[in-house]
Amino acid sequence: MRTHYCGEVTTTLLDQEVQIVGWVHRRRDHGGVIFLDMRDREGLVQVVFAPENKAAFAMAETVRNEFVLQIKGHVRNRPAGTVNKDLRTGEIEIAADEITILNRSEPTPFPIDEYHDIGEETRLRYRYLDLRRPEMLNRMRVRAHITRYLRRYLDDNGFMDIETPFLTKATPEGARDYLVPSRTKPGSFYALPQSPQQFKQLLMMAGMDRYYQVVRCFRDEDLRADRQPEFTQLDIETSFLNETEIQDIMEEMMRGMFADVLNVELPKPFPRMTYAEAMSRFGSDKPDLRIPLELVDIGDLLRDVEFKVFAGPANDPHGRIAALCVPNGADISRKEIDDYTKYVGIYGAKGLAYIKVNGEGTEGLQSPILKFIPENVTQQILARTKAKVGDIIFFGADKANIVNEALGALRIKVGHDRQLVEKGWRPLWVVDFPMFELASDGRVAACHHPFTAPKIKNVDELSHEPLKILARAYDMALNGSEIGGGSIRINSSDLQMAVFRALNISEEAANEKFGHLLTALKFGCPPHGGIAFGIDRLAMLMTDSASIRDVIAFPKTQTATCPLTDAPSSVDPAQLIELGIRVRHDEKKVPAIKKENVGG
Ligand code: AMO
Ligand code: AMP
Repeated sequence: MRTHYCGEVTTTLLDQEVQIVGWVHRRRDHGGVIFLDMRDREGLVQVVFAPENKAAFAMAETVRNEFVLQIKGHVRNRPAGTVNKDLRTGEIEIAADEITILNRSEPTPFPIDEYHDIGEETRLRYRYLDLRRPEMLNRMRVRAHITRYLRRYLDDNGFMDIETPFLTKATPEGARDYLVPSRTKPGSFYALPQSPQQFKQLLMMAGMDRYYQVVRCFRDEDLRADRQPEFTQLDIETSFLNETEIQDIMEEMMRGMFADVLNVELPKPFPRMTYAEAMSRFGSDKPDLRIPLELVDIGDLLRDVEFKVFAGPANDPHGRIAALCVPNGADISRKEIDDYTKYVGIYGAKGLAYIKVNGEGTEGLQSPILKFIPENVTQQILARTKAKVGDIIFFGADKANIVNEALGALRIKVGHDRQLVEKGWRPLWVVDFPMFELASDGRVAACHHPFTAPKIKNVDELSHEPLKILARAYDMALNGSEIGGGSIRINSSDLQMAVFRALNISEEAANEKFGHLLTALKFGCPPHGGIAFGIDRLAMLMTDSASIRDVIAFPKTQTATCPLTDAPSSVDPAQLIELGIRVRHDEKKVPAIKKENVGG
């Protein structure tokens, strides 16, 4: 039906006849001449209808936005002064000879030809129209480019693309499972995979050596801008490689992908930072290295002060007092400080003390806490934070996790507010994660997942001080986002069982849930390890989108619904009967779910 895509009609086709098909992006009538901007996947082209061609002109008068047309015409230069440098086709136009209306369109619920701030609900309800907008189309194109490159790289490097089941048993990644009732075994349920973790390990035990899959994962967790209930991983597993070998391959793949998709050169090698250092300097395990602000520990200076807000955490082994010096921040107003105080409150901080360095000497300092702190201590704080005249120092004092979250988030917010964010791409590896952490209910949980190998010499270490043990786990972070995470895995049944024990999972429970894996580990399991990247997050960063919903063709809303299909929805009662399920609408109070403390 076409000789060229709209967006491909350029000066190389001058004076030639072309035939295009596409949608009417915009129609303009100018003094007896009709202009149609025609749009298809590849872009826009301007078509001109002169009144001399009566039949075509009359037809063009009847078309409206989003009609689907076929147009035959000649390519010519645009008149001087009307060239559009922003368009690939901006130097030419098509003088129309023939026009056929292939289909009509009702007026669309929102304009496609210009940006309108319509609610996301409406955009998602008419997602097929939303996706017609060039910026959305471009996001899909970049996403396809990303996966195309990654697949090719892995194909070329000996990785086998192997599919794993969706109807399966729970794999712990720390979220709730999506369950699917079984008809053939009433009362039983499949779980949709939170990741293919166990299957990819079983593939290594099967001798596949190198595996990858671009795969959907399902997690029923609280949604945020960078989380979806179903999302896509580039999932990878390898045998007989250690962590640095795996990281080297992954880095090379990422460098190649950024060069190919964005023409951007990433550093070689990526910097590596321990989890402990990342938390100490940035209050985050995915630090945004583009922001040149750092947290500084000052707890040791404050053990003997009378100010309880500081003395408490300074003397608490789980406490932390950190300072964040913002260069030239002394002009931050009282109102802004109040707003920042509210902001850190979201993360549990009970206040936000500060010192403004307005001038030299003690008289130059302005702060609500100076009266509580001896002058020599204040001087040491100024020296340690390297504060200069014109700066402001913020303080967080509390349990270490609260200070890290609150000041880590403040660092990012102030960095953006004061336009301190440097341009460019700052990937890094975060390594030496703890093996376990204390969950909110006080139980020991795996930081990554329970199949990760601990850094120990002796299995007994697991029962002594589990919270001190490090894991052979690594994350790839980029500009403040965790884009991938992986580890070297446990490859012995005994060690796996010992880790389950450290997680307070009884032998019986472990066998019931993971018996297949524990058995498989006994039949010659190779040393193995891998990683999974979040494709949606990568695409979001690489297209500079505000949400991962913008890089998913048909995403869910913040409440995990799909306005387009109206999922989730009720089903035919007959289907429920077949599944042996009765819905109890009256049941408001559900008993607390006993959560396996395996995931992190
Ligand atoms: P992890 O749970 O760290 O590891 O997930 C890997 C990467 O997937 C992305 N991601 C998400 N993206 C969008 N929405 C979500 N809800 C979501 N959850 C995770 C992140 C994350 O870095 N099986 C292990 C990997 C391994 O050990 O090899 C795993 O799934 O970018
Ligand atoms: P208060 O004595 O509670 O009025 O607090 C004095 C100053 O310390 C105020 O600026 C508070 O915002 C700040 N502050 C209170 N609690 C904390 C905390 N946990 N961390 C940091 N600053 C705090």
